[in-house]
Amino acid sequence: MSVIAIDGPAASGKSSVSRRLAKRLGFVYVNSGTMYRAITWEVLRQGVDTTSPAAVAAALDGADIHCGIGDNSESFIHINSAAPDAALRDSRVNLHVSLISAVPAVRELISARLRLLAGDRNVVMEGRDIGSAVFPETPFKFYLDASPEIRRKRRADEGQSDAIEARDKMDSSRKAAPLKIAGDARVVDTSHLTLEGVVEAILDILRQLGITPR
Ligand code: DC
Repeated sequence: MSVIAIDGPAASGKSSVSRRLAKRLGFVYVNSGTMYRAITWEVLRQGVDTTSPAAVAAALDGADIHCGIGDNSESFIHINSAAPDAALRDSRVNLHVSLISAVPAVRELISARLRLLAGDRNVVMEGRDIGSAVFPETPFKFYLDASPEIRRKRRADEGQSDAIEARDKMDSSRKAAPLKIAGDARVVDTSHLTLEGVVEAILDILRQLGITPR
């Protein structure tokens, strides 16, 4: 089993790169941001006080949270049998997700699910703390970055209302498993690279480490 960890700030290109990389390698693709977004959606749906870690933890206590890998070899999350995918990029979720994902009970829950999901599979897993906290022992760690201007433009081009710098600030300053570059991660600046360019740069490094496309 191999875990390829792809971490980095918002709009650094993680999702497109990770999905494509997983396809090239024949690995499963796990998007951990989706899990934090789904939890945020559920907390907002219940209308609990998002500034109270205890209320957030209590809201999740009774929820039936099911994470799995679909026929498309990508991760999914269902909460109380609902698949909230269509709502995960809503501005309300964008606005609250950093606050909710800073709650230690939420991080413990999702990190445990991510480890279970990986199990003995080969996975490409993207997030903020995959290489630094969820799978610190994996030798395959990448940190994608891009200039703030380019990241802002990417989100605007997607038509999304997303205060990415505010999220990055909260994500990197929280106490529990903050966004940071793991000491042994390879940093890839995606600012001036195409999607394929980033994927090829990562594949080049992986080949040197003994992982080859199928
Ligand atoms: O990757 P994304 O933008 O969809 O992630 C949404 C939020 O989820 C991000 O702002 C912080 C949180 N997150 C996290 O705390 N840890 C992860 N491994 C992945 C996401």
